[in-house]
Amino acid sequence: MAKHTIVTIPGDGIGKQVLPEAIRALEAVGFDANYVHADIGWDCWTREGNALPERTIELLRQHKVGLFGAITSKPRKEAEAELSTALKGKGYQYFSPIVSMRQIFNLDVCVRPCLSFPGNPLNFIRRKPAGGYEEPKVNVVVFRQNTEGLYAGVEWTNPPKPVREALATHPKFKPFAGVPGFDLAISVRIITRPAARRICEAAFQHARKFGYKSVTICEKPNVLRETSGMMEEVAKDVQKQYSEIALWSTNIDAQTMWLTKNPEDYGVIVASNLFGDVISDAFAGLVGGLGFAASGNIGEVVAVFEPTHGSAPKYAELNPPIVNPIAMILSAAMMLDYLGENDKATRVRAAIADVVSEGKVRTYDMMRIGGGAKSLAQGAASTTEMTDAILAKLGMGVEVAQSV
Ligand code: NAI
Ligand code: MG
Repeated sequence: MAKHTIVTIPGDGIGKQVLPEAIRALEAVGFDANYVHADIGWDCWTREGNALPERTIELLRQHKVGLFGAITSKPRKEAEAELSTALKGKGYQYFSPIVSMRQIFNLDVCVRPCLSFPGNPLNFIRRKPAGGYEEPKVNVVVFRQNTEGLYAGVEWTNPPKPVREALATHPKFKPFAGVPGFDLAISVRIITRPAARRICEAAFQHARKFGYKSVTICEKPNVLRETSGMMEEVAKDVQKQYSEIALWSTNIDAQTMWLTKNPEDYGVIVASNLFGDVISDAFAGLVGGLGFAASGNIGEVVAVFEPTHGSAPKYAELNPPIVNPIAMILSAAMMLDYLGENDKATRVRAAIADVVSEGKVRTYDMMRIGGGAKSLAQGAASTTEMTDAILAKLGMGVEVAQSV
């Protein structure tokens, strides 16, 4: 029997293309696992009226670790229009299966490393005051609260009467009191102290384990006094147990400016859901963008690892596939770390670093050329060629792999 069982959830579009590449990398480092396929995404929605079927939830409940590709998500009206005829008009409502998965398993800690690989042509460079350019080394890990905040899903257009009445008790609601219901949209920002504590503790633990000198709480407590205020208060309290690690506090707006001025100054960053989403994408842009952005969604029992990118439908039908598999493979490496297979994770990352610094094999995004079938003719590597190059660095050349 294999040591681990991994639920593989490719989803839609390029999710189906990159997930098998991650499995090739896992096999190349000798990860001892069974893979169990699970369905998610658009096909499930159109055929079953549910983008996250119960059988997938059950598999995750049973095996506890998932490797996920990406899904396609569409606005409510479009979603309803694409339901199969038999399901139309029966009250099925589309919900994002990712958000549902995070909520069902309370995958409240989202970890998004943004580390620059030397030699990546997509790395951020900065003009030096004295002339010339420099490439700051970015080594940031964003801890994003994953289940609450503005993404909690508590929202209305035309809020029901009791909600309006409750809002009317707040003096600051006065200017909005006369707005007609259909002209009024409200999303509630919810922060709870236990969840704030869990994300802050996870951030500080990571900082201690990997020797980061600071944790930055990135919020907006001067304006969002209650919710960002609570995040900051909890971060200060957690810091007391980590005297060797400094706690910095930045505002989300200022942080998005500073991240291009001095990204090398930041280490671990912790933020609520929306701000963490924003700031992790912003930092990812400094280290190669979506082709390099990996993430882990970690709960107390279940964890799911996925690239940050979506299903990129415009490239999904290309054969051979052209998208960069590195984000997905890095996500698999995060999974290895989570499972205590740290040596294997390190080997995978080192192999990627080698391929990137050598610069011989580059997917279209790394060449800054347009995607599409013609990108291969312009010298871009295909998805599988990129993985082949990584496997070759792991001592698993394509010839070797094919001869066994
Ligand atoms: P996307 O991330 O799918 O693609 C945006 C663009 O980024 C692509 O057109 C492509 O140019 C580039 N890109 C993405 N992944 C890449 C890779 N691995 N290598 C090279 N280039 C890559 O975001 P988009 O177009 O906004 O959304 C497409 C669909 O994906 C939507 O239905 C959206 O809802 C969904 N989505 C799903 C996510 C998830 O599953 N976690 C996250 C983001 C979007
Ligand atoms: Mg995002």
